[in-house]
Amino acid sequence: MRHDHVQSPARSSGGTRHLPRRWAHAGSAAALRGLNTVTEEDLAHFAQFLPPTSILSTLTPSPSPAEELAPFNNDWMNKYHGKSTTVLKPRTTEEVSKIVKWCSQRRIGIVPQGGNTGLVGGGVPINDELILSLSNMTKVRSFDDVSGILVADAGCILQSLSDYLAPYHHIVPLDLGAKGSCQIGGNVSTNAGGLRLLRYGSLHGSVLGLEVVLPDGTVLDQLTSLRKDNTGYDLKQLFIGAEGTLGVVTGVSILAAPAPQASNNVILALPKFDNVQPLFKEVKRQLSEILSAFEYMDRTVYDLAVKHGQGRALDPQDVEGAECFVLVETSGGKREHDEEASHIPLPDAQKLNTLLETLMEADEPLINTGVLATSPAQFSALWAIREGLTEAVSKEGNAYKYDVSVPLDKFQEVVDKTREHLQQKGLLHADAVKYVVGYGHVGDSNLHLNIVAAAYTPEIEAALEPFVYELVASYKGSISAEHGIGYMKTHALQYSKNPTSIDIMKRIKHLFDPHGIMNPGKVLP
Ligand code: FAD
Ligand code: MLT
Ligand code: ZN
Repeated sequence: MRHDHVQSPARSSGGTRHLPRRWAHAGSAAALRGLNTVTEEDLAHFAQFLPPTSILSTLTPSPSPAEELAPFNNDWMNKYHGKSTTVLKPRTTEEVSKIVKWCSQRRIGIVPQGGNTGLVGGGVPINDELILSLSNMTKVRSFDDVSGILVADAGCILQSLSDYLAPYHHIVPLDLGAKGSCQIGGNVSTNAGGLRLLRYGSLHGSVLGLEVVLPDGTVLDQLTSLRKDNTGYDLKQLFIGAEGTLGVVTGVSILAAPAPQASNNVILALPKFDNVQPLFKEVKRQLSEILSAFEYMDRTVYDLAVKHGQGRALDPQDVEGAECFVLVETSGGKREHDEEASHIPLPDAQKLNTLLETLMEADEPLINTGVLATSPAQFSALWAIREGLTEAVSKEGNAYKYDVSVPLDKFQEVVDKTREHLQQKGLLHADAVKYVVGYGHVGDSNLHLNIVAAAYTPEIEAALEPFVYELVASYKGSISAEHGIGYMKTHALQYSKNPTSIDIMKRIKHLFDPHGIMNPGKVLP
Protein backbone atom coordinates (compact mmCIF):
# COMPACT_ATOMS: atom_id res chain seq x y z
CA MET A 1 0.00 0.00 0.00
CA ARG A 2 1.29 3.44 -0.88
CA HIS A 3 -0.12 5.86 1.60
CA ASP A 4 1.20 8.84 -0.30
CA HIS A 5 -2.05 8.34 -2.25
CA VAL A 6 -4.05 8.99 0.86
CA GLN A 7 -5.33 12.43 1.49
CA SER A 8 -6.31 13.43 4.95
CA PRO A 9 -10.02 14.37 5.10
CA ALA A 10 -8.98 17.94 5.87
CA ARG A 11 -7.27 18.23 2.50
CA SER A 12 -9.46 15.95 0.45
CA SER A 13 -11.88 17.56 -1.95
CA GLY A 14 -13.80 14.28 -2.07
CA GLY A 15 -15.93 14.96 1.00
CA THR A 16 -17.13 11.85 2.78
CA ARG A 17 -17.16 9.52 -0.20
CA HIS A 18 -16.88 5.86 0.68
CA LEU A 19 -13.31 4.55 0.58
CA PRO A 20 -12.63 1.05 -0.69
CA ARG A 21 -11.67 -1.35 2.11
CA ARG A 22 -8.02 -1.36 1.16
CA TRP A 23 -7.82 2.28 2.10
CA ALA A 24 -9.95 1.86 5.17
CA HIS A 25 -7.06 1.65 7.60
CA ALA A 26 -5.17 4.23 5.65
CA GLY A 27 -7.87 6.47 7.11
CA SER A 28 -5.55 6.62 10.10
CA ALA A 29 -4.19 9.62 8.23
CA ALA A 30 -7.19 11.19 9.93
CA ALA A 31 -5.29 10.66 13.15
CA LEU A 32 -3.00 13.40 11.90
CA ARG A 33 -5.82 15.91 11.90
CA GLY A 34 -5.09 18.68 14.34
CA LEU A 35 -1.35 18.35 13.87
CA ASN A 36 0.70 21.08 12.26
CA THR A 37 3.37 20.82 9.63
CA VAL A 38 6.92 22.03 10.09
CA THR A 39 7.44 25.64 8.99
CA GLU A 40 10.46 27.84 8.34
CA GLU A 41 9.89 29.42 11.74
CA ASP A 42 10.18 26.00 13.34
CA LEU A 43 13.44 25.45 11.47
CA ALA A 44 14.76 28.76 12.71
CA HIS A 45 13.98 27.64 16.25
CA PHE A 46 15.75 24.27 15.79
CA ALA A 47 18.76 26.05 14.27
CA GLN A 48 19.25 27.82 17.62
CA PHE A 49 20.49 24.63 19.24
CA LEU A 50 21.23 22.20 16.37
CA PRO A 51 24.20 22.55 14.00
CA PRO A 52 23.39 22.73 10.26
CA THR A 53 24.60 19.11 9.89
CA SER A 54 21.78 17.98 12.17
CA ILE A 55 19.05 19.54 10.01
CA LEU A 56 17.91 18.16 6.68
CA SER A 57 14.99 20.05 5.23
CA THR A 58 13.49 20.90 1.89
CA LEU A 59 12.20 24.13 3.40
CA THR A 60 14.02 27.43 2.97
CA PRO A 61 16.31 29.21 3.83
CA SER A 62 18.81 26.51 2.82
CA PRO A 63 16.80 23.66 1.33
CA SER A 64 18.32 20.20 1.01
CA PRO A 65 17.59 18.31 -2.21
CA ALA A 66 14.52 16.05 -1.87
CA GLU A 67 16.70 12.99 -2.71
CA GLU A 68 18.57 13.50 0.56
CA LEU A 69 15.35 12.97 2.46
CA ALA A 70 14.29 9.95 0.40
CA PRO A 71 16.07 7.32 2.56
CA PHE A 72 14.20 8.67 5.59
CA ASN A 73 10.80 8.95 3.89
CA ASN A 74 10.79 5.47 2.31
CA ASP A 75 10.96 2.21 4.21
CA TRP A 76 13.29 -0.76 3.66
CA MET A 77 10.73 -2.58 1.48
CA ASN A 78 9.93 0.55 -0.52
CA LYS A 79 6.31 -0.10 0.43
CA TYR A 80 5.59 2.83 2.72
CA HIS A 81 6.28 6.39 1.66
CA GLY A 82 6.19 9.53 3.75
CA LYS A 83 6.30 13.14 2.66
CA SER A 84 8.26 14.73 5.44
CA THR A 85 10.02 17.97 4.67
CA THR A 86 12.34 17.76 7.64
CA VAL A 87 14.69 15.31 9.32
CA LEU A 88 16.42 16.30 12.56
CA LYS A 89 19.42 14.38 13.86
CA PRO A 90 20.04 15.42 17.48
CA ARG A 91 23.30 14.41 19.16
CA THR A 92 22.22 14.37 22.78
CA THR A 93 19.22 13.58 24.95
CA GLU A 94 18.99 17.27 25.78
CA GLU A 95 18.65 18.14 22.09
CA VAL A 96 15.97 15.46 21.66
CA SER A 97 14.13 16.91 24.65
CA LYS A 98 14.24 20.45 23.21
CA ILE A 99 12.93 19.25 19.82
CA VAL A 100 10.11 17.25 21.36
CA LYS A 101 9.13 20.05 23.74
CA TRP A 102 8.86 22.47 20.83
CA CYS A 103 6.87 20.00 18.74
CA SER A 104 4.55 19.39 21.67
CA GLN A 105 3.84 23.10 22.02
CA ARG A 106 3.43 23.51 18.28
CA ARG A 107 1.48 20.19 17.86
CA ILE A 108 3.87 18.84 15.24
CA GLY A 109 3.82 15.08 14.67
CA ILE A 110 7.14 13.30 15.27
CA VAL A 111 8.29 9.97 13.83
CA PRO A 112 11.24 8.56 15.79
CA GLN A 113 13.48 6.71 13.36
CA GLY A 114 16.32 4.27 13.99
CA GLY A 115 17.94 2.31 11.18
CA ASN A 116 14.70 2.30 9.17
CA THR A 117 14.80 -1.47 8.76
CA GLY A 118 11.34 -2.02 10.25
CA LEU A 119 8.99 -4.16 8.17
CA VAL A 120 5.59 -2.75 9.15
CA GLY A 121 5.84 0.88 8.06
CA GLY A 122 6.24 2.19 11.62
CA GLY A 123 9.41 4.20 11.08
CA VAL A 124 8.34 6.45 8.20
CA PRO A 125 5.77 9.24 8.30
CA ILE A 126 2.23 8.81 7.06
CA ASN A 127 2.12 12.41 5.85
CA ASP A 128 4.64 15.13 6.56
CA GLU A 129 5.47 14.53 10.22
CA LEU A 130 8.92 15.55 11.37
CA ILE A 131 11.41 12.69 11.31
CA LEU A 132 13.60 12.49 14.39
CA SER A 133 16.55 10.31 13.45
CA LEU A 134 18.68 8.86 16.25
CA SER A 135 21.59 8.25 13.88
CA ASN A 136 23.82 10.87 15.55
CA MET A 137 23.43 9.34 19.01
CA THR A 138 26.03 6.59 18.82
CA LYS A 139 28.01 6.64 22.07
CA VAL A 140 28.54 3.66 24.32
CA ARG A 141 28.02 5.24 27.72
CA SER A 142 29.46 2.45 29.86
CA PHE A 143 30.19 -1.25 30.02
CA ASP A 144 30.86 -3.22 33.15
CA ASP A 145 32.56 -6.49 32.27
CA VAL A 146 31.84 -7.92 35.70
CA SER A 147 28.06 -7.52 35.62
CA GLY A 148 27.86 -7.52 31.80
CA ILE A 149 25.74 -4.37 31.83
CA LEU A 150 26.04 -2.18 28.74
CA VAL A 151 24.61 1.33 28.63
CA ALA A 152 24.45 2.91 25.19
CA ASP A 153 22.86 5.70 23.21
CA ALA A 154 19.76 4.51 21.37
CA GLY A 155 21.30 5.25 17.96
CA CYS A 156 24.08 2.66 18.32
CA ILE A 157 23.91 0.17 15.47
CA LEU A 158 23.46 -3.39 16.70
CA GLN A 159 26.55 -4.66 14.86
CA SER A 160 28.71 -1.88 16.29
CA LEU A 161 27.62 -2.85 19.81
CA SER A 162 28.56 -6.47 19.05
CA ASP A 163 31.96 -5.28 17.80
CA TYR A 164 32.39 -3.13 20.89
CA LEU A 165 31.65 -6.05 23.22
CA ALA A 166 33.80 -8.64 21.43
CA PRO A 167 37.11 -7.79 23.15
CA TYR A 168 35.31 -8.07 26.50
CA HIS A 169 34.08 -11.57 25.51
CA HIS A 170 30.45 -10.51 25.64
CA ILE A 171 27.65 -10.35 23.08
CA VAL A 172 24.42 -8.42 22.69
CA PRO A 173 21.65 -10.90 23.60
CA LEU A 174 19.93 -10.22 20.27
CA ASP A 175 20.84 -11.00 16.68
CA LEU A 176 19.02 -10.31 13.44
CA GLY A 177 19.73 -10.10 9.73
CA ALA A 178 19.41 -6.31 9.82
CA LYS A 179 22.18 -5.95 12.43
CA GLY A 180 24.36 -3.86 10.13
CA SER A 181 21.74 -1.07 10.01
CA CYS A 182 19.20 -1.42 12.82
CA GLN A 183 19.77 0.49 16.05
CA ILE A 184 19.46 -0.68 19.61
CA GLY A 185 16.75 1.96 20.22
CA GLY A 186 14.81 0.60 17.23
CA ASN A 187 15.29 -2.95 18.49
CA VAL A 188 13.91 -2.01 21.89
CA SER A 189 11.08 0.01 20.38
CA THR A 190 9.99 -2.95 18.22
CA ASN A 191 10.83 -5.55 20.88
CA ALA A 192 12.75 -7.31 18.13
CA GLY A 193 13.01 -11.08 18.44
CA GLY A 194 15.51 -12.42 15.96
CA LEU A 195 17.59 -15.50 15.53
CA ARG A 196 18.61 -16.33 19.09
CA LEU A 197 15.55 -15.52 21.16
CA LEU A 198 15.38 -19.24 21.86
CA ARG A 199 18.62 -18.88 23.81
CA TYR A 200 18.61 -15.37 25.26
CA GLY A 201 14.91 -14.64 25.66
CA SER A 202 13.07 -11.42 24.83
CA LEU A 203 14.20 -7.84 25.36
CA HIS A 204 11.53 -7.58 28.05
CA GLY A 205 13.97 -9.66 30.10
CA SER A 206 17.39 -8.41 29.01
CA VAL A 207 16.70 -4.66 28.92
CA LEU A 208 17.42 -3.39 32.43
CA GLY A 209 16.66 0.26 31.98
CA LEU A 210 15.75 2.97 29.49
CA GLU A 211 16.07 6.71 29.10
CA VAL A 212 13.07 8.10 27.26
CA VAL A 213 12.07 11.58 26.14
CA LEU A 214 8.34 11.75 26.76
CA PRO A 215 5.95 13.47 24.32
CA ASP A 216 6.05 16.74 26.32
CA GLY A 217 9.85 16.83 26.28
CA THR A 218 10.37 15.55 29.85
CA VAL A 219 13.28 13.13 30.20
CA LEU A 220 12.23 9.95 31.99
CA ASP A 221 15.44 8.54 33.43
CA GLN A 222 14.91 4.86 34.09
CA LEU A 223 18.42 4.00 33.03
CA THR A 224 19.03 1.78 36.01
CA SER A 225 21.67 -0.87 35.74
CA LEU A 226 20.22 -2.94 38.54
CA ARG A 227 19.32 -6.51 37.83
CA LYS A 228 16.68 -6.49 40.52
CA ASP A 229 14.41 -3.54 41.18
CA ASN A 230 10.95 -4.34 42.50
CA THR A 231 9.81 -0.82 43.28
CA GLY A 232 6.34 -0.76 41.86
CA TYR A 233 5.29 -0.52 38.23
CA ASP A 234 8.05 -1.39 35.79
CA LEU A 235 7.54 1.60 33.51
CA LYS A 236 10.31 0.75 31.03
CA GLN A 237 8.33 -2.28 29.87
CA LEU A 238 5.76 0.06 28.33
CA PHE A 239 8.33 1.47 25.93
CA ILE A 240 9.64 -1.94 24.85
CA GLY A 241 7.60 -2.61 21.74
CA ALA A 242 5.78 0.77 21.82
CA GLU A 243 7.13 1.53 18.33
CA GLY A 244 7.78 5.16 19.14
CA THR A 245 4.18 5.95 20.09
CA LEU A 246 4.90 6.77 23.74
CA GLY A 247 8.21 8.60 23.54
CA VAL A 248 11.69 8.67 22.06
CA VAL A 249 14.08 6.11 23.52
CA THR A 250 17.45 7.86 23.89
CA GLY A 251 19.43 5.44 26.08
CA VAL A 252 19.36 1.71 26.72
CA SER A 253 20.82 -0.36 29.54
CA ILE A 254 21.02 -3.99 28.54
CA LEU A 255 22.45 -7.14 30.05
CA ALA A 256 25.06 -8.47 27.64
CA ALA A 257 25.65 -12.22 27.64
CA PRO A 258 29.05 -13.88 28.01
CA ALA A 259 30.28 -14.78 24.52
CA PRO A 260 30.02 -18.50 23.91
CA GLN A 261 33.51 -19.94 23.55
CA ALA A 262 32.37 -22.27 20.83
CA SER A 263 29.53 -22.01 18.34
CA ASN A 264 28.72 -24.58 15.71
CA ASN A 265 25.98 -25.05 13.20
CA VAL A 266 24.50 -27.54 10.82
CA ILE A 267 21.97 -27.24 8.02
CA LEU A 268 19.58 -30.16 7.60
CA ALA A 269 17.43 -31.08 4.61
CA LEU A 270 14.13 -32.74 5.53
CA PRO A 271 12.04 -34.99 3.26
CA LYS A 272 8.79 -33.57 4.59
CA PHE A 273 7.47 -30.76 6.76
CA ASP A 274 5.90 -33.25 9.18
CA ASN A 275 9.41 -34.11 10.35
CA VAL A 276 10.13 -30.62 11.70
CA GLN A 277 8.33 -31.12 14.98
CA PRO A 278 9.86 -34.55 15.86
CA LEU A 279 13.23 -33.20 14.75
CA PHE A 280 12.94 -30.20 17.07
CA LYS A 281 12.08 -32.56 19.91
CA GLU A 282 15.05 -34.80 19.17
CA VAL A 283 17.44 -31.86 18.76
CA LYS A 284 16.36 -30.44 22.11
CA ARG A 285 16.77 -33.86 23.71
CA GLN A 286 20.30 -34.33 22.38
CA LEU A 287 21.63 -30.78 22.62
CA SER A 288 19.64 -29.44 25.59
CA GLU A 289 21.25 -26.27 26.97
CA ILE A 290 23.74 -25.77 24.13
CA LEU A 291 20.99 -25.35 21.52
CA SER A 292 20.96 -21.66 20.56
CA ALA A 293 18.96 -21.50 17.31
CA PHE A 294 16.56 -23.68 15.35
CA GLU A 295 15.48 -21.93 12.17
CA TYR A 296 13.09 -23.18 9.50
CA MET A 297 12.96 -22.49 5.73
CA ASP A 298 10.64 -24.06 3.23
CA ARG A 299 11.96 -25.37 -0.07
CA THR A 300 10.86 -22.41 -2.18
CA VAL A 301 12.54 -19.79 -0.03
CA TYR A 302 15.70 -21.90 0.29
CA ASP A 303 15.85 -22.10 -3.52
CA LEU A 304 15.44 -18.32 -3.75
CA ALA A 305 18.35 -17.83 -1.34
CA VAL A 306 20.50 -20.16 -3.45
CA LYS A 307 19.41 -18.43 -6.66
CA HIS A 308 20.47 -15.06 -5.26
CA GLY A 309 23.79 -16.37 -4.04
CA GLN A 310 23.12 -16.14 -0.32
CA GLY A 311 25.45 -18.29 1.73
CA ARG A 312 26.72 -21.78 1.13
CA ALA A 313 24.17 -24.01 -0.51
CA LEU A 314 24.04 -27.76 -0.04
CA ASP A 315 24.92 -30.02 -2.92
CA PRO A 316 21.87 -29.85 -5.26
CA GLN A 317 21.88 -33.63 -5.77
CA ASP A 318 21.81 -34.27 -2.04
CA VAL A 319 18.77 -32.09 -1.51
CA GLU A 320 16.67 -33.38 -4.38
CA GLY A 321 13.23 -34.12 -2.97
CA ALA A 322 13.84 -32.19 0.26
CA GLU A 323 10.67 -30.33 1.25
CA CYS A 324 12.25 -28.00 3.77
CA PHE A 325 15.42 -27.10 5.69
CA VAL A 326 16.41 -26.39 9.25
CA LEU A 327 19.46 -24.58 10.57
CA VAL A 328 20.57 -25.68 14.02
CA GLU A 329 23.14 -23.76 16.05
CA THR A 330 24.85 -24.71 19.28
CA SER A 331 26.68 -22.32 21.56
CA GLY A 332 28.63 -23.66 24.45
CA GLY A 333 30.43 -22.09 27.36
CA LYS A 334 33.43 -24.38 27.07
CA ARG A 335 35.36 -25.71 24.12
CA GLU A 336 35.15 -29.14 25.58
CA HIS A 337 31.73 -29.15 27.02
CA ASP A 338 30.11 -31.87 29.05
CA GLU A 339 31.70 -35.06 29.98
CA GLU A 340 29.97 -38.34 29.41
CA ALA A 341 29.83 -40.93 32.15
CA SER A 342 32.98 -42.38 30.61
CA HIS A 343 34.73 -39.04 31.27
CA ILE A 344 35.61 -38.73 27.59
CA PRO A 345 35.39 -35.03 26.70
CA LEU A 346 32.59 -34.40 24.22
CA PRO A 347 33.02 -31.04 22.51
CA ASP A 348 29.88 -29.30 21.26
CA ALA A 349 30.91 -29.88 17.63
CA GLN A 350 31.03 -33.57 18.32
CA LYS A 351 27.55 -33.40 19.79
CA LEU A 352 26.31 -31.96 16.51
CA ASN A 353 28.17 -34.65 14.63
CA THR A 354 26.58 -37.33 16.77
CA LEU A 355 23.21 -35.71 16.21
CA LEU A 356 23.75 -35.80 12.46
CA GLU A 357 24.81 -39.43 12.54
CA THR A 358 21.90 -40.60 14.65
CA LEU A 359 19.46 -38.68 12.47
CA MET A 360 20.84 -40.16 9.25
CA GLU A 361 21.14 -43.67 10.56
CA ALA A 362 17.71 -43.97 12.16
CA ASP A 363 15.39 -46.62 10.70
CA GLU A 364 13.05 -43.88 9.55
CA PRO A 365 15.43 -40.94 9.09
CA LEU A 366 13.99 -37.53 9.88
CA ILE A 367 16.42 -35.91 7.47
CA ASN A 368 17.73 -36.51 3.96
CA THR A 369 21.09 -35.00 4.56
CA GLY A 370 22.95 -32.39 6.54
CA VAL A 371 26.06 -30.26 6.33
CA LEU A 372 28.06 -29.45 9.41
CA ALA A 373 30.22 -26.32 9.41
CA THR A 374 33.82 -27.22 10.04
CA SER A 375 35.37 -23.76 10.03
CA PRO A 376 34.35 -20.24 11.08
CA ALA A 377 33.97 -19.35 7.39
CA GLN A 378 31.58 -22.25 6.82
CA PHE A 379 29.73 -21.37 10.00
CA SER A 380 29.09 -17.86 8.61
CA ALA A 381 28.27 -19.22 5.15
CA LEU A 382 25.55 -21.49 6.55
CA TRP A 383 24.07 -18.63 8.55
CA ALA A 384 24.20 -16.44 5.44
CA ILE A 385 21.60 -18.67 3.78
CA ARG A 386 19.15 -18.08 6.62
CA GLU A 387 20.05 -14.43 7.17
CA GLY A 388 19.86 -13.77 3.43
CA LEU A 389 16.24 -14.91 3.02
CA THR A 390 14.73 -11.45 3.51
CA GLU A 391 17.00 -9.98 0.89
CA ALA A 392 16.56 -12.89 -1.54
CA VAL A 393 12.79 -12.51 -1.31
CA SER A 394 13.01 -8.77 -1.89
CA LYS A 395 15.19 -9.30 -4.97
CA GLU A 396 12.41 -11.45 -6.46
CA GLY A 397 9.73 -8.81 -6.19
CA ASN A 398 7.60 -6.95 -3.69
CA ALA A 399 6.96 -8.99 -0.59
CA TYR A 400 3.81 -8.82 1.50
CA LYS A 401 5.23 -9.84 4.86
CA TYR A 402 3.08 -11.49 7.51
CA ASP A 403 5.00 -12.17 10.69
CA VAL A 404 2.76 -14.44 12.71
CA SER A 405 2.73 -16.71 15.73
CA VAL A 406 0.94 -19.98 15.02
CA PRO A 407 1.39 -23.48 16.43
CA LEU A 408 4.48 -25.03 14.88
CA ASP A 409 2.57 -27.86 13.25
CA LYS A 410 0.52 -25.28 11.30
CA PHE A 411 3.43 -23.49 9.57
CA GLN A 412 3.04 -25.39 6.31
CA GLU A 413 -0.75 -25.29 6.46
CA VAL A 414 -0.74 -21.48 6.69
CA VAL A 415 1.53 -21.23 3.65
CA ASP A 416 -0.46 -23.80 1.65
CA LYS A 417 -3.86 -22.33 2.48
CA THR A 418 -2.67 -18.86 1.49
CA ARG A 419 -1.29 -20.17 -1.79
CA GLU A 420 -4.53 -22.06 -2.55
CA HIS A 421 -6.57 -18.97 -1.72
CA LEU A 422 -4.53 -16.82 -4.10
CA GLN A 423 -4.80 -19.53 -6.74
CA GLN A 424 -8.59 -19.53 -6.40
CA LYS A 425 -8.58 -15.76 -6.79
CA GLY A 426 -6.64 -16.19 -10.04
CA LEU A 427 -3.68 -14.28 -8.63
CA LEU A 428 -1.00 -16.95 -8.69
CA HIS A 429 0.93 -16.16 -11.86
CA ALA A 430 4.08 -14.35 -12.90
CA ASP A 431 2.34 -10.96 -13.27
CA ALA A 432 0.70 -11.05 -9.85
CA VAL A 433 1.89 -13.37 -7.05
CA LYS A 434 5.06 -15.24 -7.96
CA TYR A 435 5.75 -17.15 -4.75
CA VAL A 436 4.19 -17.88 -1.40
CA VAL A 437 6.94 -18.88 1.03
CA GLY A 438 7.43 -19.60 4.71
CA TYR A 439 10.41 -19.41 7.05
CA GLY A 440 10.89 -18.56 10.67
CA HIS A 441 11.91 -19.17 14.21
CA VAL A 442 10.73 -22.64 15.21
CA GLY A 443 11.65 -22.26 18.85
CA ASP A 444 9.33 -19.26 19.09
CA SER A 445 6.51 -20.70 16.90
CA ASN A 446 7.08 -17.65 14.70
CA LEU A 447 6.34 -18.07 11.00
CA HIS A 448 7.25 -15.48 8.37
CA LEU A 449 4.69 -15.88 5.62
CA ASN A 450 5.87 -13.95 2.56
CA ILE A 451 3.84 -13.41 -0.55
CA VAL A 452 6.19 -12.31 -3.29
CA ALA A 453 4.41 -10.27 -5.93
CA ALA A 454 5.43 -8.55 -9.13
CA ALA A 455 4.10 -5.32 -7.59
CA TYR A 456 2.18 -4.12 -4.54
CA THR A 457 -1.40 -3.86 -5.79
CA PRO A 458 -4.72 -3.16 -4.07
CA GLU A 459 -6.10 -6.36 -5.65
CA ILE A 460 -3.49 -8.60 -4.04
CA GLU A 461 -3.80 -6.82 -0.72
CA ALA A 462 -7.57 -7.24 -0.79
CA ALA A 463 -7.10 -10.96 -1.42
CA LEU A 464 -4.67 -11.27 1.48
CA GLU A 465 -6.46 -9.22 4.08
CA PRO A 466 -8.35 -10.07 6.15
CA PHE A 467 -7.82 -13.63 4.86
CA VAL A 468 -4.41 -14.08 6.52
CA TYR A 469 -5.48 -12.43 9.78
CA GLU A 470 -8.59 -14.61 10.00
CA LEU A 471 -6.55 -17.71 9.32
CA VAL A 472 -4.09 -16.79 12.08
CA ALA A 473 -6.93 -15.98 14.47
CA SER A 474 -8.48 -19.38 13.73
CA TYR A 475 -5.34 -20.96 15.26
CA LYS A 476 -5.49 -18.50 18.17
CA GLY A 477 -2.22 -17.08 16.89
CA SER A 478 -0.81 -13.55 16.85
CA ILE A 479 -0.87 -11.28 13.81
CA SER A 480 2.51 -9.90 14.85
CA ALA A 481 5.06 -12.16 16.48
CA GLU A 482 8.07 -9.83 16.39
CA HIS A 483 7.85 -7.07 13.77
CA GLY A 484 5.17 -5.02 15.50
CA ILE A 485 2.01 -3.31 14.30
CA GLY A 486 3.46 -0.12 12.81
CA TYR A 487 1.23 1.34 10.14
CA MET A 488 0.58 -1.93 8.34
CA LYS A 489 -1.52 -3.69 10.94
CA THR A 490 -3.34 -1.00 12.93
CA HIS A 491 -6.63 -2.06 11.37
CA ALA A 492 -5.98 -5.69 12.30
CA LEU A 493 -5.01 -5.22 15.94
CA GLN A 494 -8.37 -6.60 17.06
CA TYR A 495 -7.46 -10.03 15.70
CA SER A 496 -4.91 -10.38 18.48
CA LYS A 497 -6.06 -7.98 21.19
CA ASN A 498 -9.50 -7.92 22.77
CA PRO A 499 -11.48 -4.66 23.12
CA THR A 500 -10.57 -4.29 26.80
CA SER A 501 -6.85 -4.51 25.99
CA ILE A 502 -7.16 -2.05 23.11
CA ASP A 503 -9.09 0.34 25.34
CA ILE A 504 -6.36 0.22 28.00
CA MET A 505 -3.69 0.73 25.33
CA LYS A 506 -5.56 3.80 24.09
CA ARG A 507 -5.79 5.17 27.62
CA ILE A 508 -2.07 4.65 28.16
CA LYS A 509 -1.35 6.41 24.87
CA HIS A 510 -3.56 9.33 25.91
CA LEU A 511 -1.90 9.54 29.32
CA PHE A 512 1.59 9.85 27.82
CA ASP A 513 0.69 11.69 24.64
CA PRO A 514 -2.58 13.62 25.01
CA HIS A 515 -1.98 15.60 21.81
CA GLY A 516 -1.13 12.52 19.77
CA ILE A 517 2.14 13.91 18.38
CA MET A 518 4.29 10.82 18.90
CA ASN A 519 4.36 8.58 15.81
CA PRO A 520 0.76 9.42 14.91
CA GLY A 521 -1.33 6.80 13.13
CA LYS A 522 0.87 3.92 14.26
CA VAL A 523 0.03 0.87 16.42
CA LEU A 524 -3.43 1.92 17.58
CA PRO A 525 -6.46 1.71 15.30
P1 FAD B 1 13.20 1.57 12.62
O1 FAD B 1 12.83 0.72 11.47
O2 FAD B 1 13.86 2.84 12.34
O3 FAD B 1 11.90 1.82 13.50
C1 FAD B 1 11.06 0.80 13.89
C2 FAD B 1 9.99 1.35 14.86
O4 FAD B 1 10.60 1.75 16.08
C3 FAD B 1 9.27 2.57 14.33
O5 FAD B 1 7.97 2.56 14.80
C4 FAD B 1 10.04 3.73 14.95
O6 FAD B 1 9.24 4.87 15.11
C5 FAD B 1 10.45 3.15 16.28
N1 FAD B 1 11.74 3.64 16.78
C6 FAD B 1 12.96 3.48 16.22
N2 FAD B 1 13.91 4.02 17.02
C7 FAD B 1 13.26 4.53 18.09
C8 FAD B 1 13.67 5.21 19.25
N3 FAD B 1 14.96 5.47 19.50
N4 FAD B 1 12.73 5.61 20.13
C9 FAD B 1 11.42 5.35 19.92
N5 FAD B 1 10.97 4.71 18.83
C10 FAD B 1 11.88 4.30 17.93
N6 FAD B 1 12.90 -8.05 13.21
C11 FAD B 1 12.86 -9.02 14.16
O7 FAD B 1 12.16 -8.85 15.17
N7 FAD B 1 13.57 -10.18 14.01
C12 FAD B 1 14.34 -10.41 12.94
O8 FAD B 1 14.95 -11.47 12.84
C13 FAD B 1 14.43 -9.40 11.94
N8 FAD B 1 15.22 -9.57 10.87
C14 FAD B 1 15.26 -8.61 9.91
C15 FAD B 1 16.08 -8.81 8.79
C16 FAD B 1 16.13 -7.86 7.79
C17 FAD B 1 17.03 -8.10 6.59
C18 FAD B 1 15.34 -6.68 7.90
C19 FAD B 1 15.38 -5.62 6.84
C20 FAD B 1 14.54 -6.47 9.00
C21 FAD B 1 14.48 -7.42 10.02
N9 FAD B 1 13.69 -7.25 11.15
C22 FAD B 1 13.66 -8.21 12.12
C23 FAD B 1 12.90 -6.01 11.32
C24 FAD B 1 13.71 -4.82 11.92
O9 FAD B 1 15.06 -4.95 11.63
C25 FAD B 1 13.54 -4.73 13.41
O10 FAD B 1 12.21 -4.39 13.67
C26 FAD B 1 14.46 -3.70 14.07
O11 FAD B 1 14.36 -3.86 15.47
C27 FAD B 1 14.13 -2.26 13.71
O12 FAD B 1 15.17 -1.42 14.16
P2 FAD B 1 15.46 -0.01 13.44
O13 FAD B 1 16.52 0.69 14.20
O14 FAD B 1 15.73 -0.21 12.02
O15 FAD B 1 14.07 0.72 13.66
C1 MLT C 1 13.69 -12.89 9.73
O1 MLT C 1 13.44 -13.72 10.61
O2 MLT C 1 14.44 -13.16 8.77
C2 MLT C 1 13.17 -11.52 9.89
O3 MLT C 1 12.17 -11.39 10.83
C3 MLT C 1 12.90 -10.76 8.63
C4 MLT C 1 11.83 -11.28 7.75
O4 MLT C 1 10.76 -11.64 8.24
O5 MLT C 1 12.04 -11.33 6.54
ZN1 ZN D 1 12.16 -13.12 12.13
